[in-house]
Amino acid sequence: MNTPIADFSDAYAKKKGVRLHMPGHKGKNFSGAEKYDITEISGADQLFLPNGIIKTSEENASEIFGADTFYSAEGSTPVIKAMLYLAVKFKGNDVSDTVVAFRNVHRSFTDAAALIGFNIRWIYSENIDAKSVLNALGKTPKPCAVYITSPDYFGNIADIKGIAEICKKFGVPLITDAAHGSYLKFLSPSLFPTDFGADMCASSAHKTLPALTGAAYLHVKKGAKKEFRENAKYALSLFSSTSPSYLILRSLDNLNALLCRGFAEKISDTAKKVSELKNFLTEKGFTVLGKEPLKLSVCPLNYGYTGKEFADIMRENLIECDYAEDTAAVFIFSPYNKNRDYKAFKKAVAVIPKKPAVSLHTPESAPLKAVKSVRDAVLSPCRKVSVKGAEGKVLSHYDLCCPPAIPIAVPGEEIDDLTVKRFLYFGINEIYIIKK
Ligand SMILES: Cc1ncc(COP(=O)(O)O)c(C=O)c1O
Repeated sequence: MNTPIADFSDAYAKKKGVRLHMPGHKGKNFSGAEKYDITEISGADQLFLPNGIIKTSEENASEIFGADTFYSAEGSTPVIKAMLYLAVKFKGNDVSDTVVAFRNVHRSFTDAAALIGFNIRWIYSENIDAKSVLNALGKTPKPCAVYITSPDYFGNIADIKGIAEICKKFGVPLITDAAHGSYLKFLSPSLFPTDFGADMCASSAHKTLPALTGAAYLHVKKGAKKEFRENAKYALSLFSSTSPSYLILRSLDNLNALLCRGFAEKISDTAKKVSELKNFLTEKGFTVLGKEPLKLSVCPLNYGYTGKEFADIMRENLIECDYAEDTAAVFIFSPYNKNRDYKAFKKAVAVIPKKPAVSLHTPESAPLKAVKSVRDAVLSPCRKVSVKGAEGKVLSHYDLCCPPAIPIAVPGEEIDDLTVKRFLYFGINEIYIIKK
């Protein structure tokens, strides 16, 4: 497969010409990456109006993913906003601007609600399942999209096929946040959302494929509403910088060539190794969460440790997880992990002494009353208050830590006593409430 963006930036760097254009480093070697870090100069095409090397490179990616695939140089975050904008903009006359969503959304979803102003019909089910979607779609008004997160942070994969069939029956597009799932395309068979009927999908190349941080895609299923494909670039431009990083575009471009060179076999080999590791941990007495083949979410509570304690022990052994919370520690593998990495993991776990099980008392959650829309709440005058005593107040926003950036409460919702307990449990002591 050709790599037009990489070829262009290689040739440009070799020329060692006078750079009288952005960026300010002028290709000098400050961090080691500058020589390929260019801007949309003549020949370098334009990310949001592609007609040259970027267009060719995106066509290559489209061929690989079997969808209409567009690049993002700023992660899945603007892609998620772009997908929701497209769903609202092209909803049709008899359709509302309500989006059906499960509560485990990443903050980019609620940020999109603040920016675009759509309403949300929340599904409170723990499982992202077809039955709950059927239930939600049975209610009026007709929504403009169903939005799901799959895989989630812990490696759970939803029944996208079942959900897509129901969405199709109701004539409602299915949007998926598969930020963690770019590599699912290369499993045999593929587990990629657009292959199971999702109309649009965001996937972060940088999370699971060998690409620079920020490299991501918007995929539009072949056969989805043509307006989604035709307006994808504008939608992405609405939420993105006008200065896309060519280092990231180059990384996505080079990735195309790499994905065509036996990558599926490499993924399958890695999946086997991770599966062996999962068996090892299960036999030792740890609980392994989720079904995602390259993600290892270890719940060590029965073994006598919290997720954070387990992560600390692994860190002492120079093994860094992606994320840890009380219940679990999440480790992400790729074909670029060496055999010695798996050995080091096993060696570190083998000597952890078993202790009495840890029992956690995570405060429960219950559906909250939305007093205002997310947009109205975010735009309302607000003041910072202590969470203690915030019961009965309406949330404007709060500082959400990432990862996992899943909201405890959503702007516009009235805080109840359980939510106060949950905020405090997760270390959030101050929030912004709407000023009366
Ligand atoms: C479930 C989920 N969706 C979306 C995102 C945003 O992806 P990105 O960091 O590529 O913008 C994240 C980031 O961690 C995520 O966990």
